[in-house]
Amino acid sequence: MLQKIEQIMQEIADLKATSAEEAENLRIKYLSKKGVLNALMADFRNVAADQKKEVGMKLNELKQAATNKINELKDAAQSQEQAGDDLDLTRTPYPIRLGTRHPLTIVKNEIVDIFSRLGFVLAEGPEVEDDWHVYSSMNFADDHPARDMQDTFFVESHPDIILRSHTSSVQARVMETQKPPIRVICPGRVYRNEAISARAHCFFHQVEGLYIDKNVSFTDLKQVLLLFAQEMFGPDTQIRLRPSYFPFTEPSAEMDISCHLCGGKGCSFCKHTGWVEILGCGMVDPAVLEANGIDSKEYTGYAFGMGIERITNLKYQVKDLRMFSENDKRFLDEFTAAN
Ligand code: PHE
Repeated sequence: MLQKIEQIMQEIADLKATSAEEAENLRIKYLSKKGVLNALMADFRNVAADQKKEVGMKLNELKQAATNKINELKDAAQSQEQAGDDLDLTRTPYPIRLGTRHPLTIVKNEIVDIFSRLGFVLAEGPEVEDDWHVYSSMNFADDHPARDMQDTFFVESHPDIILRSHTSSVQARVMETQKPPIRVICPGRVYRNEAISARAHCFFHQVEGLYIDKNVSFTDLKQVLLLFAQEMFGPDTQIRLRPSYFPFTEPSAEMDISCHLCGGKGCSFCKHTGWVEILGCGMVDPAVLEANGIDSKEYTGYAFGMGIERITNLKYQVKDLRMFSENDKRFLDEFTAAN
């Protein structure tokens, strides 16, 4: 009897199960009513009285060992099966971290939002454009330097197809499909053939505004831009318009805002002038209205355009333009916005 117990003990130590079902079959074989151990228990009756104590202890050990071993096998097989079921390597890691908006998107949304509240509606146009929408319809002379290879990206096999170098092309796109009154705000990416540095990039972003109606005047333009500047940079912000030149506006101006870092007193940021330039603007040149099928005797309009990178730099003092397109998470994580 002792020998038999020893033998089964060994058997149990060597048991293996590759599935929970196999482990259950082992339990039935060894531990059920009609199992191996119960059969041994039945034999116990025939053991000589002087051996009963030793055999009984061994039998208890065997039962304990078998129960432990089979439970172990069952647990192991079960957790393996579960892991196999649940292990989905394509699943998004949990918890899902919320991303942050790109600083240029935050500022673009803010600009568009301010003008939306003034009645401007969103308009967009293609980034791959033709010469007509970017230059000719905007009153650029054939020999205007902006058309030059140094500024414009051309598609080699189609010299008429270019990457737009400003969002003013959207003005032409809107005028060819809409009748005045027109009041649009047009954000978008533009391209210029420039060497990439901290201060210049081959692509950047602009927001264009266009308003055409009867009796639109320069005063309207100035008022809207003042409102914008104060919404964007704070209620104490002042603006100043300096005469300038654009082929598509007449008269044209560049707008400065009082430096919001030093409050106009003068600092290194505004090069001690108290003012920083933020946009170009002017009254839509009658030649542009006519080229786009709008009667310049009946209608007048104003337009303005600003660089989103520039506005973002003013708001957040980003020193190097390249930060905006390098996807450095440490930089991007610094910007959070509810909108
Ligand atoms: N398109 C001009 C630029 O890229 C900006 C501008 C837009 C100026 C509208 C006047 C009116 O510099």
